[in-house]
Amino acid sequence: LLPVGVTISIHEIAGFPEYNEDVRAEGLPEIVARFQNAIAAADGLLFVTPEYNRSIPGVLKNAVDWVSRPPNQPFDGKPVAIMGASRGRLGAIMANHHLRQILTYLNAQIVNGPEVLVGEAASKFDDEGNLIDEQTREFVADQLQKLAQFARKLKG
Ligand SMILES: Cc1cc2nc3c(=O)[nH]c(=O)nc-3n(C[C@H](O)[C@H](O)[C@H](O)COP(=O)(O)O)c2cc1C
Repeated sequence: LLPVGVTISIHEIAGFPEYNEDVRAEGLPEIVARFQNAIAAADGLLFVTPEYNRSIPGVLKNAVDWVSRPPNQPFDGKPVAIMGASRGRLGAIMANHHLRQILTYLNAQIVNGPEVLVGEAASKFDDEGNLIDEQTREFVADQLQKLAQFARKLKG
């Protein structure tokens, strides 16, 4: 569903240590530094998250916290889009909006619409994990298009 000319690479956040200011003061752990460099090098970011207790999972917040400290925090001015999915009907809307709040504070430039809130996700993917719901595919494609346009515009 990616627009022509756009490539995407997936950055896993598993295995990050818990945030610790004393550790950070001595230098970013290698796994965190790789994440920070990947964000800095990207033309845009796409967050894809489930919802945990009406917010984002703690591991995602922890990863964002690690790279959010000045100087050179890499979310500053970065084009960002957010997608979420859940088994329930609301499609991780609270996680989506909590993440928006965090990223707004960090001065990321967020694509406001369309929102990609995949509710009842279990019925929208086949057994191999392919997205088979046509309307959801349209929302995803539209948001990716908007993110790419936004990134190109900001790059000048
Ligand atoms: C601790 C925890 C809290 C959850 N809270 C929510 C929630 O607030 N809203 C929701 O729609 N689903 C909630 N779920 C279900 C997740 O949406 C579901 O686990 C997720 O879609 C699957 O992703 P995962 O395998 O990475 O956990 C929760 C799941 C866990 C484990």
